[in-house]
Amino acid sequence: MSDVQADNITMSGGGLYSLATIGAKHVIDYTLPRVIDALDAVRSSSAAAGPSAYWNFSDMGCADGGTSLDLWRKVAAHIRAQSTADIQIVYADQARNDFNALVQILHGLTDFDTYLNEIDDLRILQSGASFYTSVLPADSLHLGFSATAMHWLSAKPCNISDHVHMVGASGAELEEFSKQAQQDWATILLHRARELKTGGKLVFANFCRDEQGHYLGATDGMNMFDTFNSIWQRFVDDGVITSEEYSSMTLPQYYNTVEEFASPFENQNSEVAKAGLRLDSIETHSVRCPFAEDFEKHGDAKKFARDYIPTIRTWNESIFHAGLSAKRDAQERREIIENYYATYQNMVEENPTGHAMDYVHAYMTIGKA
Ligand SMILES: C[S@@+](CC[C@H](N)C(=O)[O-])C[C@H]1O[C@@H](n2cnc3c(N)ncnc32)[C@H](O)[C@@H]1O
Repeated sequence: MSDVQADNITMSGGGLYSLATIGAKHVIDYTLPRVIDALDAVRSSSAAAGPSAYWNFSDMGCADGGTSLDLWRKVAAHIRAQSTADIQIVYADQARNDFNALVQILHGLTDFDTYLNEIDDLRILQSGASFYTSVLPADSLHLGFSATAMHWLSAKPCNISDHVHMVGASGAELEEFSKQAQQDWATILLHRARELKTGGKLVFANFCRDEQGHYLGATDGMNMFDTFNSIWQRFVDDGVITSEEYSSMTLPQYYNTVEEFASPFENQNSEVAKAGLRLDSIETHSVRCPFAEDFEKHGDAKKFARDYIPTIRTWNESIFHAGLSAKRDAQERREIIENYYATYQNMVEENPTGHAMDYVHAYMTIGKA
């Protein structure tokens, strides 16, 4: 099992991530009732609420922290309505994350509306620890949260020869990805099991393949990943990139089904079950692409294409960039990437119908018995 984060996964920096990903914020907003229910359950558990002097929360894979500000504002206010105990929120992301943007957003140095001065005795900490490792000391966490992050694998098990993502993979290559994802999910859970207090909870909103076979950007219209792939493939055909560069651009991601998420909890003898974790509930839900939704109102294809492409760019540009040969100079690589997104943008502008990045998630609450 690898504890090493797959290379080159970085969201756009400088707060751009949160500005361009309002859909990810809508996903987090959707978790609020689930998080409040989990918190109330932790509070009513004498083991978790016990003698601890303060509340301890984590936000794993937080990026620049902008998308979860409202969630933590409401969680902290919910606690303050009944308790004066100190609150600590640990914002964790992989070490390559833009922690400057995170600190500046949280401490009110940007236009984002931080909650920090609204709640007494609330402290935030930042951690560069991956969720594939231990983030917090044993038996210290009341509630761990993560949104739209755990689809990033700890390592890329292989390149996919005829697609850029596991959703288009088949045969032995798909098997490799499933095996990696299964190990990674268990690793994530076992680290959390150690950190959680007895009676503590985890609330995760993770990308998934849902019961209808839908997943991010592949609901009722065009398949976004097939579009990524067709442009990248066309670049090979036109001699813009080599076939090695094509296959290096394999996204180190996996979208579990509900069955795959539930599987480690089902066998009483599994490591995860023995560590005390129980799956309290899981449901799938789609959040509409905000840019496609806006387009239905304004009807301006140019504006839609201009708004839509940056949201995709925030999370996959670093991987496309890393797929290009290091023998190319930086300027050449930059031009290829600009060309890639310009091609995509023109495609959407010319024929916007069906383009959308709907967010398809599995929302789950996990408890430690
Ligand atoms: C799409 S962003 C989600 C940000 C935020 N949670 C949200 O929902 O808007 C995914 C985040 O997961 C982080 N990430 C990827 N692998 C990680 C790992 N192994 N440990 C911690 N964070 C990771 C990325 O750096 C990125 O910030």
